[in-house]
Amino acid sequence: MTTHDPLASLDGARILLTGGAGLIGSRIHHRLRQVGAQVTVLDNFSAYDDSTFELLGVDRTSSEVVHGDVADEDLIRSLVGESDYVVHAAAYSTVAGCTTNPAIAFASNMAGTDIILRAVAETDSVRRFVFISSAQVYGNGTGGDQAQFFTEEMPTAPLNLYASAKEWGERHTRQLLTKTGTDYTIVRPFSVYGEGQVPKPDAYSWVIAQFSMYAALGQELPLINGGQAIRDRIHVDDAAEGICRAMVAEGASQQILNLGTGTATTVCEAAELVQGHFPQAVVTDAPRLGQDPLGGYASIERMSAALGWTPEISLGQGVARYIAWMNDTPRAIPEWLRKEKNRVSNWSAQESK
Ligand SMILES: NC(=O)c1ccc[n+]([C@@H]2O[C@H](COP(=O)([O-])OP(=O)(O)OC[C@H]3O[C@@H](n4cnc5c(N)ncnc54)[C@H](O)[C@@H]3O)[C@@H](O)[C@H]2O)c1
Repeated sequence: MTTHDPLASLDGARILLTGGAGLIGSRIHHRLRQVGAQVTVLDNFSAYDDSTFELLGVDRTSSEVVHGDVADEDLIRSLVGESDYVVHAAAYSTVAGCTTNPAIAFASNMAGTDIILRAVAETDSVRRFVFISSAQVYGNGTGGDQAQFFTEEMPTAPLNLYASAKEWGERHTRQLLTKTGTDYTIVRPFSVYGEGQVPKPDAYSWVIAQFSMYAALGQELPLINGGQAIRDRIHVDDAAEGICRAMVAEGASQQILNLGTGTATTVCEAAELVQGHFPQAVVTDAPRLGQDPLGGYASIERMSAALGWTPEISLGQGVARYIAWMNDTPRAIPEWLRKEKNRVSNWSAQESK
């Protein structure tokens, strides 16, 4: 830790980090440890298999890790009661998963959030509650066929259960904690990618991980709707840094903050960045998956003013880091992805390195 570390005030602070074994949570945990915070990770280890948690660097046997559920009221009350800060990152975090398994979505993303918020409202030990929402709350924004520029002032328009639960979590945070005068910050990450990310079969949007793995395996990179969809892709280390700063920045108090780069990237451009590392990789047109809105990118004015910071890792650097990690960690490529049928037959994974 340097003396100028903006998180220095967290040295010795007791922090409850729900979902701390996941992609973003594990990076938040790592960053908080650097500044000497006393972190308790609460996770039910439902998101991945053991090997993926291992790839994320999670030590399940650590005394900092509690294997439990956010919907366990007694456990939550006792953990929150011993905390100076609570970062609530646990969620059933795939959009399609929430749609097909609504009972899990309700239990984790709504009941669990309610239980944590009530526990935070009951105690006076918590200095700030940070709720990890999602850019999904914007839905299609104002619609139309232009790329959307999402500002926090825009009305929310969730299009699925995952997004509705996040929007509800935001409102519930404001309603409960305003009553008790507990400080809070709501963060809306855009599309997070980076080392350690292992695609899930039902997460279409993780194109950096998927395209890198397809390319390494000699499979085609499918461009749905010509790859014109737009996302704001933020590296997981930047996402974790932004969330940690949201815990302490004065300007983040009682704010809703986008967490993105402010840069729009098409899926086509993401594929080109991957092709820069795998020149033989070919792209192919893929059918539209139902409604496929163009998407959009973040206004980061409010975020940068509140946090005094902007993301530092460009998409080109992030893709290079992801591919270097994947090449060093071939076991990260999941079995289901290896079995996909669109393999390009005339070049091998060996040739691509
Ligand atoms: N990855 C993204 O692009 C992105 C974008 C916007 C918002 N978010 C949000 O950020 C947060 C972290 O996302 P992530 O990408 O790290 O997802 P992740 O799935 O990798 O991490 C979520 C963690 O929560 C845990 N979890 C799930 N249900 C739980 C429960 N009931 N009790 C305890 N633990 C539980 C999972 O096991 C997992 O370790 C989530 O709230 C997600 O909705 C993610």
